[in-house]
Amino acid sequence: MKLSHNKILITGGASGIGLALAGRFIKENNTVIICSRREQALAEAKAKFPGLITRQCDLTIEQDRAALFTWISQAHPDLNVLVNNAGIQNWMKVTDDSFYDKARSEVNINILAPLHLTELFLKLNAPTTIINVTSGLAFVPFSKVPVYCGTKAFFRSFTLSLRHQLKDSDIEVIEVIPPALNTDLGGKGLHDTAPPVSDFIIKIFEQLEAGSNELTFGAAEARVKANNDSISAYFNRMNP
Ligand SMILES: NC(=O)c1ccc[n+]([C@@H]2O[C@H](COP(=O)([O-])OP(=O)(O)OC[C@H]3O[C@@H](n4cnc5c(N)ncnc54)[C@H](OP(=O)(O)O)[C@@H]3O)[C@@H](O)[C@H]2O)c1
Repeated sequence: MKLSHNKILITGGASGIGLALAGRFIKENNTVIICSRREQALAEAKAKFPGLITRQCDLTIEQDRAALFTWISQAHPDLNVLVNNAGIQNWMKVTDDSFYDKARSEVNINILAPLHLTELFLKLNAPTTIINVTSGLAFVPFSKVPVYCGTKAFFRSFTLSLRHQLKDSDIEVIEVIPPALNTDLGGKGLHDTAPPVSDFIIKIFEQLEAGSNELTFGAAEARVKANNDSISAYFNRMNP
């Protein structure tokens, strides 16, 4: 993708990876719109990067997704990049009372939201790029987050099909495959020992500049290349 002069929507752009992507894309001379549920987080992001355009919405609600794109088609019809980044991660056991409710929320935001947003985005005038944020856990599951891993495996699979379906169009499909990074994903503190997002962003942008469409970093690099034997070995190491 060209790295400047885009208009970019980053879902879940008020924190973590989304906010770091937003900051870097602004630095590269792009217009960036972010959305998330928390007004306070959106306000803090805007205070940090005054050029940001913010929009509150809950992407698990179908009407919010439709309203977001109605607003975009009116106020920002030149939006050309969609970054499907928003997601949640639930640490849980299948025997927990809340298991099904949490699984449904995870499927809603990690799967249904990006599917719907992709469909809506492709109806705009000038789409050029879809960036989907999957995970190293799409390749090898970590059993403490059993549904999360499945949603990310789904999202990677869908991303490959989407890229293939759009191969004769002018729309590029890029997958970002992060390893564990130090964000609040899953709850505060759970990722504190993971590498900082800042190092990840530097490496991701190097790969974007080089024209790659599968962007990885750190531990996720090896996961992407794993064969069946090494997947078993990783699985056993991650799930003692
Ligand atoms: N950090 C990691 O270790 C890691 C590794 C691999 C992949 N990833 C992926 O990277 C993406 C970003 O995660 P992160 O690590 O940056 O965690 P994060 O800081 O918790 O970011 C997730 C973002 O998604 C937004 N979001 C969640 N539910 C939403 C909803 N219903 N509607 C709208 N926005 C919603 C959150 O904002 P609100 O709460 O305000 O809605 C938040 O800004 C996720 O897809 C995650 O799966 C992260």
